[in-house]
Amino acid sequence: MVSISTDSFYNKFAFVYPLVDVFLKPQKRVLIDEINTLPRGNLLEIGVGNGAHLHLYEKHTITGIDTSSAMLRIAGKRKHKGVQLLQMDGEALRFQNEQFDYVVLSHVIAVVDNPDRLLEEVFRVLKPEGRIFILNHFTPDNWLKYVDHAFGIMAKTLHFKSVFHLHELAMISRFTLLKDVRLGAVSYFKLLVYQKK
Ligand SMILES: C[S@@+](CC[C@H](N)C(=O)[O-])C[C@H]1O[C@@H](n2cnc3c(N)ncnc32)[C@H](O)[C@@H]1O
Repeated sequence: MVSISTDSFYNKFAFVYPLVDVFLKPQKRVLIDEINTLPRGNLLEIGVGNGAHLHLYEKHTITGIDTSSAMLRIAGKRKHKGVQLLQMDGEALRFQNEQFDYVVLSHVIAVVDNPDRLLEEVFRVLKPEGRIFILNHFTPDNWLKYVDHAFGIMAKTLHFKSVFHLHELAMISRFTLLKDVRLGAVSYFKLLVYQKK
């Protein structure tokens, strides 16, 4: 079910999101450069947000979904031909099985209510050997974990999980890790590329 609170949070937050985007832009460039090297395919982006990066995709048939109508409205003004945008919950995808070659999760896996359920849906709609691209922060096993823990309550009000470990998700074992790209000086952000087993 769509999380009404996260949905309405992003509806209110949509107008300030461009400020967050300034910070995320270089990471998304790395993500999309990686995707642009792959053979043409059917790509699903879950939690597409305001679509500021949509123009960077050079090929592929793009479907972007999001639960926030305000984010989608902004993305709609930016999308080019060949991009389809739909209001949909990533935890309850209205797509048939094995429909997509690639799924992009850019700063969304630690935002959704149930990341395991999200991965279950991603697994279902991916074709055999299809790939997921997960761009996110991951709580490291160093001093930064204390920052994540301290930021926990504040993060809750901002609708994301500051303490986030991918290995704790049962569904991740259904995928093989292909690539681990560390971003920034302390490698707090990463682009992880997985393939459906
Ligand atoms: C932090 S923003 C990331 C936006 C974009 N992917 C980016 O990298 O800039 C998270 C986005 O995920 C959306 N979202 C949250 N829960 C969702 C869900 N269950 N299904 C689809 N989208 C969701 C929010 O509305 C928001 O637009």
